[in-house]
Amino acid sequence: MVKKCLFPAAGYGTRFLPATKAMPKEMLPILNKPLIQYGVEEAMSAGISDIAFVTGRGKRAIEDHFDLSYELEHQIKGTNKESYLNDINKIIQKCTFSYTRQIEMKGLGHAILSGETLIGNEPFSVILADDLCINSNSHGVLYQMIKIYEKYKCSIVAIEEIDKNETNRYGIIEGKLIEEGLYLISNMVEKPNPKDAPSNLAIIGRYILTPDIFEILKNTKAGVGGEIQITDALLAQAKNGMVLAYKFKGKRFDCGNIDGFVEATNHFYKLLKK
Ligand code: UTP
Repeated sequence: MVKKCLFPAAGYGTRFLPATKAMPKEMLPILNKPLIQYGVEEAMSAGISDIAFVTGRGKRAIEDHFDLSYELEHQIKGTNKESYLNDINKIIQKCTFSYTRQIEMKGLGHAILSGETLIGNEPFSVILADDLCINSNSHGVLYQMIKIYEKYKCSIVAIEEIDKNETNRYGIIEGKLIEEGLYLISNMVEKPNPKDAPSNLAIIGRYILTPDIFEILKNTKAGVGGEIQITDALLAQAKNGMVLAYKFKGKRFDCGNIDGFVEATNHFYKLLKK
């Protein structure tokens, strides 16, 4: 059973400076809801209520967001504004939240390893909140991945077909199709040049990981960009056993960059005005 979801949220978010100078990237809103809340809602709709955050310096707004704000509640009590807090208050009631800090920003792999203390020895899911995923009228991406985990009981990464000239922004997989939309990974390369990329199947910010990943991460040396890459650890896991790549149903907005952020904003605004 996958019971926990880890949110690595310690990155500097430099592509959104100066907005992210004193505010976490994950708190940037798409309309009136911060990115991280979309992620937590996706985890909840996959049946997960145990939420773990890896944060860093300057990220206290995330903790405050998932906590009651008595003063504010008192101020708007009895007014029509009270309902604005309904969704977040439901999340606070239903979930438990735990936090740890990544002291040095040594990459996503290192952030996930920092979460070991919150996860322990069990399979877990990972959401990168800046990849906002939707699947209108059907199950979310994490739900889809948990169903696959229940069958195969191994680590799974979500993938998406991208433009071949964008491979240098993603981890790229090579694999054998074993059932519709599901690949057995044989190789993975972090941010390859398009000419060296083994495919155009890019890993996006959703993972199910078996807990042996922590030992592997402890022995993973810094890779591309001097960071400890989760892709390198997953490749070691794939070589020892098996790792699957799942082409999810739905749409992803890359809210870690301005174009994707604006696209997501327009999408949700259109829904609001329908
Ligand atoms: P990104 O590669 O988007 O980096 O991280 P970033 O720092 O957030 O943003 P830019 O590139 O400077 O604009 C992908 C995810 O991994 C987390 C980030 O918070 C984000 O959710 N991360 C990255 C960490 O938690 N720790 C790290 O050391 C690096």
